[in-house]
Amino acid sequence: MTPRRPRIALIAHRGASAIAPEGTRAAIRGAIRAGAQMIELDVQMTRDGRLVVFHDDRLERTTNGSGWLRGLSYAQVARLDAGSWFHPRFAGEQVLLVSQAIRLIPERMRINLELKRTSRRQALLQGVARTLRWTRSTRRILVSSFDAKLLKPLSRRVACALLCRRRPERSLEQAVRLGCAAWHPHVSLTTPARIRRAHRAGLQVNVWVVDDPATARRLIQWGADGMFTNDPGRLRGMVG
Ligand code: G3P
Ligand code: MG
Repeated sequence: MTPRRPRIALIAHRGASAIAPEGTRAAIRGAIRAGAQMIELDVQMTRDGRLVVFHDDRLERTTNGSGWLRGLSYAQVARLDAGSWFHPRFAGEQVLLVSQAIRLIPERMRINLELKRTSRRQALLQGVARTLRWTRSTRRILVSSFDAKLLKPLSRRVACALLCRRRPERSLEQAVRLGCAAWHPHVSLTTPARIRRAHRAGLQVNVWVVDDPATARRLIQWGADGMFTNDPGRLRGMVG
């Protein structure tokens, strides 16, 4: 009898960001082609309150622009080249609106919107509420953040996950108190005991970021529910 493939979700981190510029159309398409079950997208706001897929506070690393993302209107952001920094063949890739990104992802796939910290929490939450109203199936959306204050008002209307990069025991308790569906620890903080504790508390555990097969194998053995990877194509063969 052939052993059953482990059922762990592959979550494409910023899309398939190992093979295409993060968060762009090309990275999303790469993740779909690679067979990921979920795509993680970082969410921030432009000066005029539009939600865009963007990781850094500043523009330099992943676009041909400079300065703060929050200092530009969406019209200005949309003119930037978000692909050439990765490879010239991606010239012309744009910073996507969250709504554009969602439209690119087939209904069968889940979407993790990671809300980045902001001093304009209320405006960001209004943008998220608009997006959730507009999206046909909120069931496929998982909203995550390091900022518990962003999750608190959301956890009753959409599945939420608390991200954790330090103080795991405290974070786990906080995730439960917030009514989260999942807990997202950094790989270095992930242990079998913590996975068990989270499961007992009714939380799924999705671990970031795993690109090497040995670590992936360990997480599968430990019973993690999902793993974020920059290279879903590389790990695809290991999971069901
Ligand atoms: O959501 C998991 C991971 O993306 C959190 O860190 O900095 O890659 O957005 P970061
Ligand atoms: Mg992220």
